[in-house]
Amino acid sequence: MTTEPRFIVLVGPPGSGKGTQAARLREILHLPHVASGDLFRENLKNQTPLGLQAKAYMERGDLVPDDVTIAMVMERLRRPDCANGAILDGFPRTIAQAEALDEALAARGQRIAVVPYIAVPDEVLVERIGGRRLCRVCGRAYHIRFNPPRQPGICDVDGGELYQRDDDRPETVRQRLKVYWEQTSPLIDYYRRRGVLVEINGDQPIEAVTEELRAAITA
Ligand code: AP5
Ligand code: MG
Repeated sequence: MTTEPRFIVLVGPPGSGKGTQAARLREILHLPHVASGDLFRENLKNQTPLGLQAKAYMERGDLVPDDVTIAMVMERLRRPDCANGAILDGFPRTIAQAEALDEALAARGQRIAVVPYIAVPDEVLVERIGGRRLCRVCGRAYHIRFNPPRQPGICDVDGGELYQRDDDRPETVRQRLKVYWEQTSPLIDYYRRRGVLVEINGDQPIEAVTEELRAAITA
């Protein structure tokens, strides 16, 4: 494995498998998984001012304002475990966030290595999000049909209780998809123009998606 810093940005709509794949890539690449949604949910659970600020936006399926989000993720990327790179999941989500990330990395003499865009049709996304269950302890994602735990309602890894995310209700999912197409999908062209975008077929079994990602990242 190369020792050159590797910043990998996973782009894809809600339910495309960013979190699922990032958790698998973390084991393969030995890089930290930095997920803005997980950071917000952690803050919300701990009732921090940041979490309380993000709450209303997340419940509506809207994006949290850029300044708050950028500050939170940059603080995470400054920690020592991100010195050699990171797998970014859910950030950036706007052009302003992408520019802020480029600038912060450039100031460190670093840059994004590759941006896999995990493409999945909308109707598949709705089904995936509807069946998603998460572990309260480790955050691992399951799906009641596509990726079930060995025992219903219980995490395979640590026995934690599985729950459904508040923003996985159908009306919020519709808003998240709308926001994705309006505000986040322009990133596809942004990164394509910079020559770092690789399109990945996300509409295949989890292991096959990981293989396609691994090939794209290590190419
Ligand atoms: P966030 O937590 O980032 O949610 P999201 O982007 O909507 O994406 P998801 O986590 O829903 O999907 P995923 O792609 O991770 O899919 P998963 O692997 O779980 O953001 C939540 C909110 O926080 C936002 O709405 C916003 O308010 C705020 N926020 C976060 N970042 C922000 C930012 N940068 N700026 C502003 N606001 C921000 O998979 C889904 C399901 O499918 C699972 O059940 C899984 O088991 C299953 N599955 C996965 N892959 C497959 C497969 N290949 N085949 C079958 N099933 C599969
Ligand atoms: Mg996720």
